[in-house]
Amino acid sequence: MDGYGPSTYGDRFADVYDDWYEDVSDVGATVERVAALAGPGGRVLELGAGSGRLAVPLAGRGLEVWAVDASSAMLDRLRARPGGDGVRVVLDDMARLADPALAEGGGFGVALCAFNTLFNLTDPGAQRACLARVRELLALGGVLVVEAFVPPPGSEGDAAVAAVEPRHIGLDEVVLTISRLDPVTRTITGQHLQITEHGVRLRPWVLHYATPEQLDEMAAGEGLRLVERHAGWRGEPFTPESEVHVSTYAPADAADRDAPR
Ligand SMILES: C[S@@+](CC[C@H](N)C(=O)[O-])C[C@H]1O[C@@H](n2cnc3c(N)ncnc32)[C@H](O)[C@@H]1O
Repeated sequence: MDGYGPSTYGDRFADVYDDWYEDVSDVGATVERVAALAGPGGRVLELGAGSGRLAVPLAGRGLEVWAVDASSAMLDRLRARPGGDGVRVVLDDMARLADPALAEGGGFGVALCAFNTLFNLTDPGAQRACLARVRELLALGGVLVVEAFVPPPGSEGDAAVAAVEPRHIGLDEVVLTISRLDPVTRTITGQHLQITEHGVRLRPWVLHYATPEQLDEMAAGEGLRLVERHAGWRGEPFTPESEVHVSTYAPADAADRDAPR
């Protein structure tokens, strides 16, 4: 999609994000799992933290939370949330994570990339760059946790799949989701078209998806190995039918360090 950049999604969704997506995943279970991985007072880096749906409750749980996002509109929402001032906010591209402040403080115990946010990086090179930089920013014993959808059947064929679906039909508002999935480039290009009596709002999005196996391969290429995979934040078993995965990666050289001598 021409003109679509790192901040486009956040800038175009910030005003409706909390209304539309507040309950989209299990916030309580996410917080408990991340807190367990980070340890008391641990340092957490959330990639694409958006309006703070997870970052703010994580900080409320006593963790030191750093929230990176490319959209200043999203980060403004985060700061305005009750408790938002307890989060350290960084305006940055998660494919670069170049802000010098991120490299201070001895590294992060957990890097969190929740709710398909890794797929917001619209090409494989950006996803690889993100994984490589995260690995550099992890503390000794630190892990990366990725929550993402498992691509549905049909997304691995060679025929494009286009769809128009109603997302919301209300008295004074209709939201249509218009999308085209290209299995060759593994890209879904979409628009949420919000139609009211006052006009039409275009809310564009692009996702570059990967299967769990493709993600493992990409992570391995950047020195991260899969430690565990579940179908949710409560340790649900991951099966071939799972639609979502929560996958934990650790630096591959940590295995050598931990191995008995
Ligand atoms: C689907 S939202 C998820 C927000 C939050 N993690 C949550 O679970 O509610 C994706 C977020 O990633 C941000 N984002 C997209 N591309 C980005 C990039 N290249 N660098 C940093 N943030 C990005 C968007 O601005 C948006 O806030």
